[in-house]
Amino acid sequence: MHPDSNAVLFGANIINNNGLVVFPTETVYGLGANALSAYACRKIYLTKERPADNPLIVHVSSLAMLHRITVGIDPEIESKLGEVWPGPVTLLFQKSDNIPDIVTANSPRVAVRMPDNPLALQLIEKSGVPIAAPSANISTRASITDSKYAIDELKDRVDLIYDSGPTKFGLESTILDLSGEVPTLLRAGSKTVEELEPIFGKIFVSEVARGTYESPVAITPGMKYKHYSPVKTLILVDENVFDEISVNSDLKGEVLMIGSTEHCKNSILDTFDLGSMGDLRTVAAKLFIAFRELDKRNERIGVIHPFPEYGYGLAIMNRIRKASSYKIQNLKDFEEKLSEIGS
Ligand code: TXA
Ligand code: MG
Repeated sequence: MHPDSNAVLFGANIINNNGLVVFPTETVYGLGANALSAYACRKIYLTKERPADNPLIVHVSSLAMLHRITVGIDPEIESKLGEVWPGPVTLLFQKSDNIPDIVTANSPRVAVRMPDNPLALQLIEKSGVPIAAPSANISTRASITDSKYAIDELKDRVDLIYDSGPTKFGLESTILDLSGEVPTLLRAGSKTVEELEPIFGKIFVSEVARGTYESPVAITPGMKYKHYSPVKTLILVDENVFDEISVNSDLKGEVLMIGSTEHCKNSILDTFDLGSMGDLRTVAAKLFIAFRELDKRNERIGVIHPFPEYGYGLAIMNRIRKASSYKIQNLKDFEEKLSEIGS
């Protein structure tokens, strides 16, 4: 589909006047501003309530634009860019002086990607500048995968929201660091490790990318490293515990069961069905929708189970670990936690 050229020009004009534009990408919605303007990028941090030490991804529409904002790109890496761009892969490069320090949170490296969405690409091209854009959600909340959630969350905070409906993947880009001996995954995302290894070679999957580096004990809501979260409490439980909870009628109206079709189908509690265990791409696309729906419903707690950690499952588990306040492995602990949380 061709984006409306007037709508593109309208947005480009806002970007050129240092305003904020919420625009679709193939992954999630971005909260965009002129990446060459420190003034405009500061507005992103303020609007999103984002800590100043969390840098922004810069979106480009051409390799010429990539060269304006970087220095010393390895020719071997550059020769492979066509295999992943436009697409949901973010790479780190040495930044040029054109990129203000606020964009990279003072790092000498800038994270860049070329989104695979016609409206995003034309918005960047017509603006004539790269666009810095974190996910459009307010800090700590789930990323925005549909313009209706952007309107709910941001309508009073930004200059323009493109009402373009759901995004293709519903999960953020994969972030890869190619600067060392071995390519390192910094964030699992919409391009799987299995898809990337034939292009870049064996990839090191760090604890950070898995989301397993945190201590398994309670994470209080609001702590800095909580991400992608519903406002309500989300509890990650083992699969067998999930099945036991889902047939406890005392919990009806109290707990929303978020899980695969296989685990939801026998539940007597209300469920948010993420799709089949065999279709992890669909599960990934529905995850953030589930978190947002939990917040809209009456139940005060969400319960979710783990997914296999390959393909999209790597990103799914990373997001679930970061979004959940507690990880629980048996029914007794769950019941204790429930009474501790209170009603
Ligand atoms: O799919 C996506 O990547 C979406 C769309 C809008 O492009 N963007 C997105 O941005 O997810 P954000 O800000 O929510 O997440 C970007 C992550 C940050 O958590 C940050 O740690 C990492 O990218 N990042 C950005 N710049 C970096 C840098 N210079 N060095 C290391 N990590 C960086
Ligand atoms: Mg984000």
